[in-house]
Amino acid sequence: MYDSGLGGLSVWRAVRAALPDWPITYLADQAYCPYGPRSREEIIARALKVGHYLVSQGATLLVVACNTATTAAIAALRAELSLPIVGIEPAIKPAAAMSRTGRIAVLATEYTLASERVKTLLDDHAGDVDVLRRAGHGWVEQVEAGELSSERTRALVRKVVEPLIDENIDHIALGCTHYPFLAPLIREVTGDGIQLYDPAEAIARRVCDLLRRHGCDSQGDRYYRFITTSDDAGEMALRLPQLIGHPYPVESQPLD
Ligand code: DGL
Repeated sequence: MYDSGLGGLSVWRAVRAALPDWPITYLADQAYCPYGPRSREEIIARALKVGHYLVSQGATLLVVACNTATTAAIAALRAELSLPIVGIEPAIKPAAAMSRTGRIAVLATEYTLASERVKTLLDDHAGDVDVLRRAGHGWVEQVEAGELSSERTRALVRKVVEPLIDENIDHIALGCTHYPFLAPLIREVTGDGIQLYDPAEAIARRVCDLLRRHGCDSQGDRYYRFITTSDDAGEMALRLPQLIGHPYPVESQPLD
């Protein structure tokens, strides 16, 4: 499983809960984080590098736990690697289907919001539903820094979410895997009247289905590996208890 950084740990939590006996290797491409402002070519180049590396480490299924990387690179990954690959995309379809007010918001990186994939999701699944698109400026960096509840993070969240309150939306689709870690701050603004939709559990169900379909058996060997492409593995190790509730050793693997 990989992400530009620590955001994909929101997917890791859900996959681990669904497959408690399955060994998972999680790679955070922190040397290149954030992906949001990067070009498609750069994101694809990193995806191929990370994908080949994870296969060399024994991966039998790859989860791209990053909306931005899925949007830019999943087709290239599928063309190059022969293992099953699960991507993640903004949950516009379920959020639009559940909306009673006919207005929802999707929060994601600018890269994802501007992508063809999102345009297609809107055309195919939003129909009569109005979808407000907003980027969480600075949110990824705050999660990477472990600032899940600082005043600066609260201000960055308010800036994006407060203007949505008067828009009569009833769902917010979280279209970046870092954002679920800011859900408590988002809820401080929205209260209970607006539902947040995080697709992590749907991804975990998809992973279970695929493993079953490909005849993979549980290894019965619970083993979690964490890798960062940053030189500083200690920084990520510090964040793991905060983000997933448990300390684990972190390896540094620059992949350059
Ligand atoms: N967590 C990522 C996503 O789901 C990437 C954020 C970034 O690196 O800009 O889009």
